[in-house]
Amino acid sequence: MYNKSRRPRRNRKSAAIRAMVEETTLSINDFIYPVFLIEGSGQKEEISSMPGIYRYSLDLLLKEIHECVEIGIKGFCIFPSLKEDKKDKYATEGHNKNSLYIQALMKIKSQFPDIVLMTDIAMDPYSSDGHDGLLENGEILNDETLEILAKMALVQAEAGVDILGPSDMMDGRVGYIRNVLDEAGYTQVSIMSYTAKYASAFYGPFREALDSAPKFGDKKTYQMNPANASEALIEADLDIEEGADMIMVKPALAYLDIIKSLKDNYDVPVTAYNVSGEYAMIKAASEKGWLDGEKVMMESLLSIKRAGADIIITYFAKEAAKKLSK
Ligand code: PBG
Repeated sequence: MYNKSRRPRRNRKSAAIRAMVEETTLSINDFIYPVFLIEGSGQKEEISSMPGIYRYSLDLLLKEIHECVEIGIKGFCIFPSLKEDKKDKYATEGHNKNSLYIQALMKIKSQFPDIVLMTDIAMDPYSSDGHDGLLENGEILNDETLEILAKMALVQAEAGVDILGPSDMMDGRVGYIRNVLDEAGYTQVSIMSYTAKYASAFYGPFREALDSAPKFGDKKTYQMNPANASEALIEADLDIEEGADMIMVKPALAYLDIIKSLKDNYDVPVTAYNVSGEYAMIKAASEKGWLDGEKVMMESLLSIKRAGADIIITYFAKEAAKKLSK
């Protein structure tokens, strides 16, 4: 026998009541839109495993950002897609002040001073080895990588970036970068650390977008083991102690428990990166007519927020923003 005086369905009886008791609200303010930059002008190439997501040359990227700003998106994370001949072992192009990427960041910030401009710090877009750190005799060297990452951070800070996102998972990188930034006077540049970044197969489409898959081995000696949850707390302790302003969990949907755990245990804002593979799965099923892509998109984003994410980096940002502003 159930208790007939308790009827939770009463709070679901109309759309108005449901709206009134709703616990989680998605907002355009929560989104950061990742976008891909390529050389040239008038170029727009669709990424085959991410329908609706393109690599843009700077002129068209500026147009795309303008459109997104018009619909209310405030955060953008820019990823450069480099030709193979611009890559080398030391990711030198990553700290070249005159690179297309740095010039593009300056241009974006000057045209859209009010947006939150974010970048990703790791060697992989520039590395001929396709790794986030420096590869030497089959090993990723930690402390040698830090110097390279800090050089990247400096040129990006100088270009006017608001938030730097170290995604490399080297030990000590947040503190090292914070220190170098502060010494150069960039005390106002924020660090959003990719804190619990897992060695995930969900990054597949992104590596296609950047042509950045590792040429040797995998990323398991630096990215986290998907089996581990407590380890995320160790990473978060260190990142916050080293000066991270915000922490991140990546991927998002298969790691909602980790998002919740970081939200429950720390006071800094928590970001979730709803990664390329998560986007691709929904798009693919939706193209086949197997599920309602728009509804699944909104449900996924809401669930990421409900789990505890304050900020969501997502390829759905533009589509979801349009839906939210209707
Ligand atoms: C690079 C980086 C990756 C992603 C963001 N930054 C790939 C990787 O670590 O291999 C993945 C993003 C996505 O899949 O959408 N360090």
